Formats: sequence, C-alpha cells, structure tokens
Amino acid sequence: MKRLLLSLAILLTSAMAFAGEGMWIPMLLQYNEKEMQEMGMRITADDIYSINHSSLKDAIVLFGGGCTGEIVSDYGLLLTNHHCGYDWIQKHSSVEHDYLTDGFWAMDRSQELPCPGLTVTILREMRDVTDQVLYHVTEEMTEEKRQATIDQAIKDIIAEVEKTTNYKVSIKPFFLGNEYYLLLNEVFRDVRLVGCPPSNIGKFGGDTDNWVWPRHTGDFSVFRVYADKDGHPANYSADNVPYKPAQHLQISLKGADEGDFAFVFGYPARTSEYLPAVAVDQEANVIDPIAVDLRGKILDVYNTYQEKDRKVRIQYASKHAGLGNGWKKWMGVTEGINHFHGVEKKRFYEESFQEWCLASRQRYLYINLLKDFEQKYKELEPYRVAYTYLSNAGLNIEIIDFAGKFNKLSEVTSDTPQEEVDKMLASLRKASETFFKDYYQPIDEEVARTMLAEYLNNQPADFRPGFLNDIKDVDDYVKTLFSKSMFADEEKVNNFIDNFKPSKAKKLQKDPALIAYQSLINFYSEEVNPKMSAINNDLARLQRLYMKGQMLMEPEKRFSPDANFTLRVTYGKVEGFKPQDGKNFRHFTTLEGIMEKENPDIYDYVVEPKLKELYNNKDYGRYADKDGTMHVAFTASVHTTGGNSGSPILNADGQLLGLNFDRCWEGTMSDLVYDPDICRNISVDIRYVLFIIDKFAGAKNLIAEMDIVE
Ligand code: ARG
Ligand code: ASP
Repeated sequence: MKRLLLSLAILLTSAMAFAGEGMWIPMLLQYNEKEMQEMGMRITADDIYSINHSSLKDAIVLFGGGCTGEIVSDYGLLLTNHHCGYDWIQKHSSVEHDYLTDGFWAMDRSQELPCPGLTVTILREMRDVTDQVLYHVTEEMTEEKRQATIDQAIKDIIAEVEKTTNYKVSIKPFFLGNEYYLLLNEVFRDVRLVGCPPSNIGKFGGDTDNWVWPRHTGDFSVFRVYADKDGHPANYSADNVPYKPAQHLQISLKGADEGDFAFVFGYPARTSEYLPAVAVDQEANVIDPIAVDLRGKILDVYNTYQEKDRKVRIQYASKHAGLGNGWKKWMGVTEGINHFHGVEKKRFYEESFQEWCLASRQRYLYINLLKDFEQKYKELEPYRVAYTYLSNAGLNIEIIDFAGKFNKLSEVTSDTPQEEVDKMLASLRKASETFFKDYYQPIDEEVARTMLAEYLNNQPADFRPGFLNDIKDVDDYVKTLFSKSMFADEEKVNNFIDNFKPSKAKKLQKDPALIAYQSLINFYSEEVNPKMSAINNDLARLQRLYMKGQMLMEPEKRFSPDANFTLRVTYGKVEGFKPQDGKNFRHFTTLEGIMEKENPDIYDYVVEPKLKELYNNKDYGRYADKDGTMHVAFTASVHTTGGNSGSPILNADGQLLGLNFDRCWEGTMSDLVYDPDICRNISVDIRYVLFIIDKFAGAKNLIAEMDIVE
C-alpha cells in the first residue's frame, strides 16, 4: 500500500508542469522562459542574463568564498546576509567596539571599514566548452587517463582564452562531468563594511531558530565594493572609488503575496540530486548522525563557557555559529529523508531505471550501475566515517589545528632560502594574532578531552591516527598536551617566531600539538585519502554514467545540473506549506512575532528598546505592508542551498523582494531529495531591511543612494 502511494506520488510529481526543483544555468534560461512567464514573470531571460547588454546578472556577486550578494546602487552598495558578513563584523569587534552586539553604521564613506582578504566576484560571461574539453576523451579510457586528458584540455583552453582577456578564467564540470562550461569572472579586492544591525536583529532567534520557520531574523549586512579610478579591481587604497556596476537592482516596496512568482539569483554551492539510494541512505543515516553527535558535544562545551563570560561569548560567536549550522542542518536532513521516504523514493525510481536498462541491448553500459553503486558505497563507508571523525573530533581541537600552521616551518633547514622563511614567519605572526584573539584555553582543553575520548571509544585502532593509539589515559594526555605545547601560550609562540632560526625547527617537531597534527594528517594522507580517492574515482565514473542514463531515459525532461558554486537561477512561488497533518504555515512573519518571542533573559530573544519603540508607535513609514504590519520574513518554493545565502529573491519584474538566508527545517534534505510540497526557502523581507536601515539606524545616506520603487 505504502508502495502504491509512493508510486502515485512520484507519477503525480513528474506529471505536474512545474515541480519547483532545479538550479538553472543563466545562459540557458531561454529554455525556462516560457514556463517562468506562465508562472507570472514579466521580464525575459535576456533581461536576467545577457552578454550583449547590461542585465540583472551584472548586479549579482559571489560574496567572499561562500555567499551571494547583490549590488543595489550605482556606488557599489552591496547587500548580503548578516551571517555572511558575520566573520568580518566579528573581526572588527572587540569588547570596546562590539559591533556584533551593537551593530555598526558608517554615516559617511570615510567611516566604512576595509576588510582585507574579502573579495567580491562578478560573472562576466559563460560559455559551453563541452566539446573542446571532451575532444580527446574516449569511453575506453581509465578514469585517471580520462581526468588527465580533461585537465590538460582545460589548461590549454584557459591559456588560450587568457590571451584575450583580463578576467579570471575557469572551467567547471556540470552534470557530473557530462558537460563543461567556461566562466569569465572579475574579482574585486577592496570591499568595505558599511553597516550591520545588532545581532539581536541580524541574528534574532540565533541558533535556536536557525533552519526553522516561523522565523524573525533581520539577516542582512551592508558592504561596498571599491575599484580603481577606471572601475577595475584593485587592492585596498584610500584613492579607490565606489564601483559603478553595469546594472544595479531596483528595490520593490510592494512586498509579495501568496502565489506570486519569485526567483532567486545566486551562487548555490553544492547539491547532489542524482545520487543513488544507497548514497542518500549512507549520508542521512550513517555520516550525518556521527557529525551531529560530535559537534553537539563540542557545542555543549562552548555553551557552558560562553554563558559565563561576555568576552568568551564574542570570541566563540563565529566558531559556534559555524559548527552549529552544520550540526542542526544534518539533524534536519536525517529527519526529513526518513520522514518523507527519501531513500524509498530513490529506490523506486531505480527500479524503473533498471527496467529501462533491461529493455534494450544498447543500454548494456548502464545495466550494472546500481549493483556497482551498492558495492562501492559499502567499501567507502568506513573511510567516510574515519574522515568524519578526523575532521570533527580531531581538527576541532584548536591547539592541534593551530599547530598545523607551523608544519612547514618545522621542516625548515639551513638550506631554506631566507626569503621563504621570512614569508612564513610573517604569515605565522598574523595567524597567531588572529588565533589568540579568539582563543580560550579552558574551552579547548575540554573539547580535547571530550573529542579524544569519543575518538578512542568509537573508532577501531586501525581507523585512528597513530598518536591516539599511544594514549593510555585521555585526561593525562590532555594535561600534558596543554602544559607542554607552546601553542597554548601566545607569548611563547610569538617569542618563538621572533627568534626563529633553522636550528630551532627541531623544537617544533617535539611539540605534542604538532605531533598530534602530523599524526592526523599522515593518517589522512596515507590511510584514508588514497582509499577514498580510489573509490571516489570509481564512483565518479558510475555517477557520470548514471546521470547520462537518466537523461537518456527521460529525453523530454529538463534536467538541471547539481549546484557547483556557479551562478544559477531558481524559481517558484511565494507560498507557505503544510509539513504535517494539522500544521499549516503562513508564508510570512511580522514584527508582532518578534514581540511574541521576546525574552530579556534569553540571549537569542532580546529585543532592542529602539525596535520596541518603533513597534509601539507603529512607526513603519513607507515600509509597512498594505495590511499595516511590518513584514519580517517570508517563505517561497524556490530551490536553494548553502551559498544562496544573501541571494536576492526577485519579483516578476526582476525587482528585489528580499534576501534569501535559510530553509525550513522539514525540507533541509533538499540537497539530496527535493520535495516541492515541503521544501521552502526563507528570505528576509527587503522592507524590513530598509526599515531597520532607515528608521532604526537612521542611515538615511544609504537609503538615498538606493533605487526604490514604491
Ligand atoms: N542556516 C543558515 C545557512 O545555512 C543560516 C546560518 C546562520 N545563522 C545561524 N544562526 N548560525 O547558512
Ligand atoms: N543558510 C544557507 C547559506 O548560508 C542557505 C541554505 O542553506 O539554505 O547559504
């Protein structure tokens, strides 16, 4: 019966005109245009992406290495999420200037804060180079030979194109290696922090509400891109000028109603929608639970100390958010996959794939795929588990990870050129400063005790790095580690750097933290990685074939390539959802909800007095919804993933409605299995963003340079 229902569900989904799923390549958007327009879009694919004239794409940026941002003025003003700017806000924060707690606003351009190391990347052009990349590839090649051939072709093509452009050129695989696209990017290096709300607005609800709807987070921050006088990327300089984009986004004050067409334009990082059932099962039921368990234990330690001390709370804020984000998401993935029968749905699909294979002799290439997948994933499992321990239980011990930065220095001999040594020392000096600014040894000691015990209890001896096998008593070991290692002591580390001579490199090699690091890394590079890569190589071949097979089996279906950190368009409708019998979520939240959640005793739910005052006076200005309330966030059925944070969500006219920042708990599994009924993305309403900038912060200078459509 369950089976019948499942098959019905699958049939129904595939028969529906639009299933919500899909991250589309902007240069190929003409194939989606009709559908988008039927759903309500009033602009054209060419308005979204064009290389012949300015288009929306000119306003969309890859923010740093992991988020999206959008340019909203002719002076390079950029919006992204608060959690995307978080690291930079935190770096500029101290107990005296606590921008995390108090927010920060540059009231004129001279007050904007440079963020060395932060880049903003803008796509200029994309080209299909599949035929060139695969020109010399044959079916008979081994996987290694194939990859080498492809790598060489990519190198040659890039070298050729580089002769004709100043842009950064790269080539990436799509459809699991069945297609290749070339990307021309411009990378801006002078990006400055312009403003951010206090965390109890920008991170309202904190990690408690993270990944959950209903949500009330004002998750935005403001930056500005600078360029040299000719508009080209340049290193930071006081002489740089605000970057003038070919196009900036217009902002709509109309809001979004249930059922309205909406699309997200941004940089989704990674999805794996075409995995076989066995892989999804392994991810959701073996790997994720281990990572969740380990990280949960680390977070418990962080929490205990963060609650006790304001300084520690700031120091560990970013680390906590980082670890906590994955921890919570993976819990949701496991729950979602199991609750919504993700593995069974895949298995069911695989049965029809297998039938398709058997129906024609010509499909012999695909016939053993599913069987091979089963076997390969079984082989892979212990190594994936080993890797999960290594990265979560090993490298989250900060002293060990930090010691690793000195690994190269420990190999210096009198033959190493002085210039090289100086460079190393300079970068280590910086690393040491960054590390100790946010280091609290009691936390690290307790994390070390907890994680090493977990490691020893749960991983067999031959799946552990060597140093662990020498430990007789974890408490004793940890005590020695922290008393003997110089890496727990800022003064010692800095003295060592300042007085470094090649003859001292040996001292490093005896440091227990560096010994532990090397043991972890050697275990990875000698035991885990070779096996994992070999199996993954085989899997890459299977995946590529499986992808091709699926495309052959359903020639009418429009397939969208998995996310790979390239610019994509995804679209759907503004809508709520019903995740469970009796639960029916409305598509938006309001300021009333912030007041409902308010709790002065709980850090995540403190409400700023100024915000309360604005609320009490209903002082919303032109940012109120037509219903008179202040809308804070809304959900839509747009397929998004990590990296889409900060992406603009746009209306039928291509105007900004909000900033995407999260997904709903019930649908976090969408990276593996997308379900149009329950997968929803969450965006902060742009009117709330403007309300905070204007009414709360009084940064009218920023409002003035934006292009706001009433
Ligand atoms: N879950 C969102 C995304 O994956 C937002 C994370 C930041 N917020 C937080 N409370 N940690 O990245
Ligand atoms: N919050 C995510 C991000 O930071 C977005 C998501 O995973 O839905 O990119």
